Amino acid sequence: MRTVSPEAIAIVKATAPVIEKQGLAITTAMYARLFENAEIAKMFDQAAQQSGEQPRRLAAAILAYARNIDKLENLGAAVERMVHRHVETGVKSEHYPYVADALLPAIRDVVGADVATDAVLAAWGEAYWMLADILIAAEARAYAQAA
Ligand code: HEM
Repeated sequence: MRTVSPEAIAIVKATAPVIEKQGLAITTAMYARLFENAEIAKMFDQAAQQSGEQPRRLAAAILAYARNIDKLENLGAAVERMVHRHVETGVKSEHYPYVADALLPAIRDVVGADVATDAVLAAWGEAYWMLADILIAAEARAYAQAA
């Protein structure tokens, strides 16, 4: 599993307040980018119908969880829920780069390159991929069990 350097943890925590304050705008920008890919958009259309909820909490969750990147051991139940939903909707490891490539530019779109410097985006990228690795591993186990 990829880990997050202490430097990146410090950057994520320092920038989390401003980034989370813009959470809704970032979320909206992220989905606009993500749904340019019709295959990915289809996964969410179905999911929204099934759950009757906006899938927007995905992006909000990434932002919130990244902030707690140094206490991920507390996330057990939340991870189970995400894994369950992801397995239901067919999320696979190959989908994770699409979300990273939508989220990180969306952060820069909204907060600007002055705040979202290369170092800041790299730190958020590290946080994203650590979370992603936890989910990917748990989802692989769930798919193997179901098979
Ligand atoms: C680190 C990366 C990710 C995190 C933290 C994350 C988090 C979440 C969360 C919190 C939910 C809501 C679960 C619930 O029902 O309570 C969710 C649902 C979902 N996620 Fe993810 N996710 C990630 C990556 C992905 C990827 C790569 C995809 C596929 C492109 C994806 C597709 C979905 C879909 C389709 C749903 C269901 C949406 C709905 O219920 O309307 N997620 N995710």
